[in-house]
Amino acid sequence: MLIFSKKFFKKISSVVPNRFKELVPKHVKNFLRGKYISRTVIIDIVGTCNLKCPSCPNGNVEKRNPVGMMNLGIFNKMLDKVALEHPGTTVAIYNWTDQFLHPQIIEFIKAIHKRGFKSRLSSNLNLLPVNLKEFAETNPGGITISLSGFTQKVYEIAHKGGDIEIIKENMRKLSMALREANVSTSVNVYYHKYKHNLDEVKLMEDFAKSLGFGFGADWAYFMPIEGVKRYIDGNAPEEDVKFIETNLALDIKKAVEVAKAFKDEPCLFPSTLLTIDWRGQVQLCCGVYDSSLFSLGSYLDMPWEIIESRLKNHPFCNECKKNGLHTYISWSSNEKIRPIYKKIAEESIKNNNTKNK
Ligand SMILES: C[S@@+](CC[C@H](N)C(=O)[O-])C[C@H]1O[C@@H](n2cnc3c(N)ncnc32)[C@H](O)[C@@H]1O
Ligand code: SF4
Ligand code: SF4
Repeated sequence: MLIFSKKFFKKISSVVPNRFKELVPKHVKNFLRGKYISRTVIIDIVGTCNLKCPSCPNGNVEKRNPVGMMNLGIFNKMLDKVALEHPGTTVAIYNWTDQFLHPQIIEFIKAIHKRGFKSRLSSNLNLLPVNLKEFAETNPGGITISLSGFTQKVYEIAHKGGDIEIIKENMRKLSMALREANVSTSVNVYYHKYKHNLDEVKLMEDFAKSLGFGFGADWAYFMPIEGVKRYIDGNAPEEDVKFIETNLALDIKKAVEVAKAFKDEPCLFPSTLLTIDWRGQVQLCCGVYDSSLFSLGSYLDMPWEIIESRLKNHPFCNECKKNGLHTYISWSSNEKIRPIYKKIAEESIKNNNTKNK
């Protein structure tokens, strides 16, 4: 019944012209989304990453979360529960980690597909699964390749510990393996734009397209949410402040100031996402990192009603919304914020160019 309703809602939504959708009050839209659209389920299958990007908690947080790997048996049990609670969902196997570190990655993808879910992956692509042929044949739903440069000198600034020449070689191998497997996986390169790497966007775009991959570039931001809060409160470590102020085009202070005007807008994460770490612990959302503060309990041990209530009533959310941080962290999908943030980033590029002349 639930799945029929969700399909029905999606179908109706796809045929209703936008001008009519715009007449529907936002709170009604949010209610309908929460009730009828499947929640995306995010499950980290490992507890760490091979890189230390300074914009990511793996590179900017001293107190790291526990490290380990998810057991395939537990993953299967969790998927069985997901199938009852969120039929027809998409399962993304990354949040603060890189799923290609798990030696059983192929089995995890097969487990997702076996239950009729779509799979989503995102990787820095410094590593590929050992059996690339078998991996390609699983026909992953979608793969994002995240990077920030075309030459090593530029790439390594924001992707610390990675090697762009290895990535380019892995991109070639991946493209070939998917072609040979004749599957429908969509691969998209996501170029994180900073002040220092704009000259190389086109080089990477041409390279990605030559391999048959999609390409998108957008302004990089700083994560996690508690790290952004530390920075605006003046408590960020010196190294983070230096990176933020030298490299981020999207000036955090200006961006958060703008986001504050939208602080009363609801946060969509509690009704559209379910985030779980490699130990099977539900996390408050995909934007917070510290699992000692933001774990809500074991996914397998909690009935859905309890999980939903914990997702919707966490005290940190008031703090986050009061500062507009929920809008900052999800700005790319917010039509009102996007053009304002574009202006902020372009202005800081212009100022930077003038300063460097
Ligand atoms: C934290 S990463 C984890 C997955 C994988 N390690 C990766 O980097 O693709 C999750 C998503 O955040 C995106 N991301 C990482 N750093 C970012 C940044 N500074 N600004 C915007 N998006 C970023 C990545 O492109 C990726 O799709
Ligand atoms: S952004 Fe991705 S690649 Fe970079 S440190 Fe974070 S998880 Fe790793
Ligand atoms: S309000 Fe902030 S902390 Fe709470 S779910 Fe939304 S983004 Fe996460």
